[in-house]
Amino acid sequence: MSVGRRRLKLFGILMMVNFFIYVIVEVSRSGGHEKTAKGQVVIPTSKFWRKYTPHKAYWNKQQQKLDLLYNPILTLLSNMTVEESLISNASVLNACDPDPSVTSEVNDFANLPDRFKDFLYYLRCRNYSLLVDQPNKCKHKPFLLLAIKSLIPHFDRRQAIRESWGKEIKSRGITVVRVFLLGQTPPEDNFPNLSDMLKFESQTHKDILLWNYRDTFFNLTLKEVLFLKWVASSCPDVQFIFKGDDDVFVNTHQILDYLKSLSKDKAKDLFIGDVIKDAGPHREKKLKYYIPESVYEGSYPPYAGGGGFLYSGDLALRLNNASDQVLLYPIDDVYTGMCLQKLGLAPEKHKGFKTFDIEEKYRNNICSYTSLMLVHSRKPQEMIKIWTHLQNPHLNC
Ligand SMILES: *[C@@H]1O[C@H](CO)[C@@H](O)[C@H](O)[C@H]1NC(C)=O
Ligand SMILES: *[C@@H]1O[C@H](CO)[C@@H](O)[C@H](O)[C@H]1NC(C)=O
Ligand SMILES: *[C@@H]1O[C@H](CO)[C@@H](O)[C@H](O)[C@H]1NC(C)=O
Ligand SMILES: *[C@@H]1O[C@H](CO)[C@@H](O)[C@H](O)[C@H]1NC(C)=O
Ligand SMILES: *[C@@H]1O[C@H](CO)[C@@H](O)[C@H](O)[C@H]1NC(C)=O
Ligand SMILES: *[C@@H]1O[C@H](CO)[C@@H](O)[C@H](O)[C@H]1NC(C)=O
Repeated sequence: MSVGRRRLKLFGILMMVNFFIYVIVEVSRSGGHEKTAKGQVVIPTSKFWRKYTPHKAYWNKQQQKLDLLYNPILTLLSNMTVEESLISNASVLNACDPDPSVTSEVNDFANLPDRFKDFLYYLRCRNYSLLVDQPNKCKHKPFLLLAIKSLIPHFDRRQAIRESWGKEIKSRGITVVRVFLLGQTPPEDNFPNLSDMLKFESQTHKDILLWNYRDTFFNLTLKEVLFLKWVASSCPDVQFIFKGDDDVFVNTHQILDYLKSLSKDKAKDLFIGDVIKDAGPHREKKLKYYIPESVYEGSYPPYAGGGGFLYSGDLALRLNNASDQVLLYPIDDVYTGMCLQKLGLAPEKHKGFKTFDIEEKYRNNICSYTSLMLVHSRKPQEMIKIWTHLQNPHLNC
């Protein structure tokens, strides 16, 4: 081969390598271009080349394997062979026997609080069955679905929501439907057996969804993924979803007005709430949100506080798909932020979501509630009181 041709060949190889690096970088940028809520592509200001270094923290390490599974081309950048990455094969989401490897793979496993041990043992199980369903809930293609995270013993909170902001509506083409999202409160956790009462409640109100898993703080993420799956299978035509806690007051009128005013474009990718940016895991052991270094490293993507957020049904279907590619994380709202990030989206802050309450001096003034969308927290009696006042046609704010 002549020197010239060899040069040409070398040049060709270099171009190929460049091309592959380009492809790899594109693929590894979490599912495409970062976009603002308005849909503009954001040009990264800092490092654009994400070096593929293996993580030390358990969750990050396992997530990396999952990324390889969905993007085998990434193996070129990592140390792992495709075979190694397939250790986490498709059964990754449905392995329900406690995973014994965590005891050795998480370096301080023995010293972790029990809730972390439980979380890690069952990290790969999410196919819990639906024990109480409402298969006809979305028969009439609802405009808005209210999905409220509750716990079985919270009967009074659910009833207050039914009688106030969570009323089902069917009028002038606007259908609003409601479901409560529940898991099990088993005797092992010293809960009384309320199953007969729950059965009665479900038959009376037809708004209970109950899954067969232990309802704990760290399992709220299961509630999220199981709910998204339910939307995809039983409510795929819903236009908008409000998902929130059972201790918030929601101004449903305000939410409906807002949703009706949206342009088609804006509606498609809608995801609004009280957005937290530039946050990361809390490292203080006493906090509810504490996450040890051995479990997670790095910062959190932008996320909307789990007290309540509003998003489109279209996006719920995409989130459901994205959730297969994101390992369960013990904090549910952060998890949803991670799934949004996989889709190249970020939640948008809306000032109507008052998850840290309004100033005390305004709390007893009904006019404080006319223009907000959500306020946390309110007791059942407060919900009914505020809602009743809001219905007053002579209200002058
Ligand atoms: C890559 O693999 C080698 C050998 O298996 C190992 O010694 C090295 O630490 C790995 N590098 C990284 C960055 O993990
Ligand atoms: C998936 O992983 C399990 C456990 O590691 C293994 O037993 C099984 O053979 C794997 N299946 C495939 C199709 O690779
Ligand atoms: C989830 O699926 C796996 C594999 O199909 C099965 O072995 C397991 O029993 C299921 N778990 C639950 C809780 O249904
Ligand atoms: C709770 O009570 C119901 C009926 O009263 C019974 O069928 C069920 O097995 C009980 N559940 C547990 C976990 O003991
Ligand atoms: C989540 O639910 C599963 C299934 O009931 C249970 O085995 C596990 O202990 C729960 N995890 C946590 C962290 O509570
Ligand atoms: C979700 O994934 C399924 C199966 O791969 C696909 O058919 C469907 O179109 C996807 N839905 C969305 C909204 O991306």
